[in-house]
Amino acid sequence: MSVDKQPFKPLIAAFCCNWCSYAGADLAGTSRLAYPAEVKIIRVPCSCRVNPLFVLRAFQRGADGVIIAGCHPGDCHYTTGNYYARRRMTLLFSMLDYLGIEKERTKLDWISAAEGVKFATVMNDFSKEIHALGRNTRFGDLRCTTAVAQ
Ligand code: FES
Repeated sequence: MSVDKQPFKPLIAAFCCNWCSYAGADLAGTSRLAYPAEVKIIRVPCSCRVNPLFVLRAFQRGADGVIIAGCHPGDCHYTTGNYYARRRMTLLFSMLDYLGIEKERTKLDWISAAEGVKFATVMNDFSKEIHALGRNTRFGDLRCTTAVAQ
């Protein structure tokens, strides 16, 4: 069976801030709430730690969707980090169409440590959206394929 005939299994990079969203993911896990295994969590100290280039790099490395999750506005452990993240990502997301990437492949959301249910719901919904969009082919020409071939 060729690679193209295999069912689409997306790769979703989820940048989660350590203080809220990562703890929310932890709560979802301990509460035995299911969310897709294709969501790969990357723990960051704060949502503002996510440089917009990280998002582009994730797409370049084969991600089909990228989500950034942080503390609710006003609750950031570093006071204003999520405000910076919101501004940066709004700007980045508005430029994605120009790069040929559907902006629906990205999402920014606020999930607190007490919101395990919300974490699971957001990840399930985002995964459905990415399934509907299909494979991200943009930046495929920039991907290093030698590691995959080994
Ligand atoms: Fe969570 Fe800043 S510490 S968004």
